[in-house]
Amino acid sequence: MTGKGNVTAISGSDTVEVYLTEEQIRAKVAELGRRIEKDYADKDLFVVAVLRGAIFFACDLVRAIDLPLVLDFVQISSYADGTESTGRAKITKELDLSIKDKDVLVVEDIADTRHTLHNLLSFLRSKFPRSIRVCALLNKEERKEREIPLDYVGFEIENLFVIGYGLDYAQRYRNLPFVGVLRLSDGEILS
Ligand code: IMP
Ligand code: MG
Repeated sequence: MTGKGNVTAISGSDTVEVYLTEEQIRAKVAELGRRIEKDYADKDLFVVAVLRGAIFFACDLVRAIDLPLVLDFVQISSYADGTESTGRAKITKELDLSIKDKDVLVVEDIADTRHTLHNLLSFLRSKFPRSIRVCALLNKEERKEREIPLDYVGFEIENLFVIGYGLDYAQRYRNLPFVGVLRLSDGEILS
């Protein structure tokens, strides 16, 4: 297993420094699962996982929640191929199932400016769920531009561009089993 701070070559001379280990992620997912399980024991839990970044997290998280639940996916894109938020978002994959009167838990990989969450929550509210809460694996509090409350947060992180465990840089590196900080071949660290 790759330890925190270890640096690994991932592509050409790009490298990634481990920021959150597989072990840390696994322990956090288990802890979040237990909290959600308690909070939703007498509710009608409907998990909305946000494609594509949140799929690894969502798949692990739902397996840590021992409750009957429904899982569906939505895709919203606010980023082009790079790292800059545009502030705009569009639903590129609709939910397949109805969330009317359900207790919706949105599962996101990361809360950055929160524009994506803002747009996603207005879209979901228009479908009359009974309640909506948000669970984000990572939060960059420093980057927040919208007052969208996060009900469950895995890790508060610094203002760094991270990859792995679902998170991409230009669609790559989602399959790294840990969360890392990308260093490009010219030594640049993205943020
Ligand atoms: P927001 O709308 O600025 O909150 O952006 C949220 C989305 O931007 C996330 O769902 C990610 O897809 C992407 N994103 C934000 N920060 C990072 C990062 O550090 N690495 C990879 N993707 C990121
Ligand atoms: Mg995303």
